[in-house]
Amino acid sequence: MHSQDLQALDRAHHLHPFTDFKALGEEGSRIVTHAEGVYIHDSEGNRILDGMAGLWCVNLGYGRQELVEAATAQLRELPYYNNFFKTTHPPAVKLAEKLCQLAPAHVNHVFFTGSGSEANDTVLRMVRRYWALKGKPEKQWIISRENAYHGSTVAGMSLGGMAPMHAQGGPLVPEISHVRQPYWFGEGRDQSPEAFGRTCAEAIEARILELGEDNVAAFIAEPVQGAGGAIMPPASYWPAVKEVLAKYDILLVVDEVICGFGRLGEWFGSLHYDLEPDLMPIAKGLSSGYLPIGGVLVGDRVAETLIEEGGEFFHGFTYSGHPVCAAVALKNLEIMQAEGVVEGVRDDLGPYLAERWASLAEHPLVGEARSLGLMGALELVADKASGGRFDKRLAVGNLCRDICFASGLVMRSVGDTMIIAPPLTITREQIDELVALARDALDETAVRLAKTVQEETTA
Ligand SMILES: Cc1ncc(COP(=O)(O)O)c(C=O)c1O
Repeated sequence: MHSQDLQALDRAHHLHPFTDFKALGEEGSRIVTHAEGVYIHDSEGNRILDGMAGLWCVNLGYGRQELVEAATAQLRELPYYNNFFKTTHPPAVKLAEKLCQLAPAHVNHVFFTGSGSEANDTVLRMVRRYWALKGKPEKQWIISRENAYHGSTVAGMSLGGMAPMHAQGGPLVPEISHVRQPYWFGEGRDQSPEAFGRTCAEAIEARILELGEDNVAAFIAEPVQGAGGAIMPPASYWPAVKEVLAKYDILLVVDEVICGFGRLGEWFGSLHYDLEPDLMPIAKGLSSGYLPIGGVLVGDRVAETLIEEGGEFFHGFTYSGHPVCAAVALKNLEIMQAEGVVEGVRDDLGPYLAERWASLAEHPLVGEARSLGLMGALELVADKASGGRFDKRLAVGNLCRDICFASGLVMRSVGDTMIIAPPLTITREQIDELVALARDALDETAVRLAKTVQEETTA
């Protein structure tokens, strides 16, 4: 089939996620046909460096035959059976064991789901169930953060702090409260990063007191906000948050859907920031995105209560611990261990990216270049000295993203923040290529912006 025929069918029948359906219909979608390593290929014959590892998930890169073989073997052996009604199967058992070996020491159980959003739905129910079992059913409130992303189901988006999502689709899940995010470049530059990190932790404490400490069940956060714009909190933030949560009896939920499985140079973001979460939603890199699978890693405190005092937990999904997805996830984790992928990010690729990425801070359009592990962001600004932003109408982030795509790099935009999270198997040479492509795209963005401004002045 030719690209145009596929695009016509796509336009006629396919409603894409997070998409203005009409605008895409007019423009036509890009059709990705195949991929290998860190590169995707489209139906027009372009090879594009995938600086986003799909959607932050293809951690081992594309084309890993061992994962194909693991899926094929499991499809032959047992393509489906469930984990309901006192049954299980070897892939789910083995994957559960492997995950608990990799997780922090106090985490020894996992509940499987089909995605990160389902994992956060599970979190919401587990947290409230836990407190009910503890005889504190009034502990209902969950504190989250503005601009957090926890998924697209009703519970996921209610937990998340994305205002445009909240504005669509009717009432949210009640008793979820959002506090300010530790986004120093965007919201905190009137203070030092350290002071701002503490200010944001104090906002959590203030909210706990406002809601009543006896009514607050949990605090949920990503170690580093991903979809919100690759926001690494100031160094003071997590230690201060830990102190606040320890002061009141509140569960910590650390959403590891993006940061888990090596992205920050540790198996989990919680290990990087020295956190002891009660619950850890996971997905994405768990299977390197080859098949859909997620879950919630459950710390001993919650697990013991659910097991010892809970009776039946009326919750689960047809595809919880799907055997083929679990077999692929297990093989994915085994390969990551055998190849030292996580250590490679921590000791070599992360520091290398940090050095190369920082060089982009010199560009006239860049107000800040930051990275941690294999996640990075560039803040695009109109005024380098003050950090002043461009007029929103110019949609500079989208302009830069489109230029990147056309010149062979996937770099995503969140407003005027450009973000990357490439496969963890990227080489140093490919990091050089990524940074060079990003620099060229910034140059071209500057040229186009200058032209637009000139046209507007002469008009
Ligand atoms: C931190 C975080 N949590 C949850 C989700 C939702 O995961 P899924 O899209 O698999 O439902 C995402 C997806 O991007 C995410 O980034």
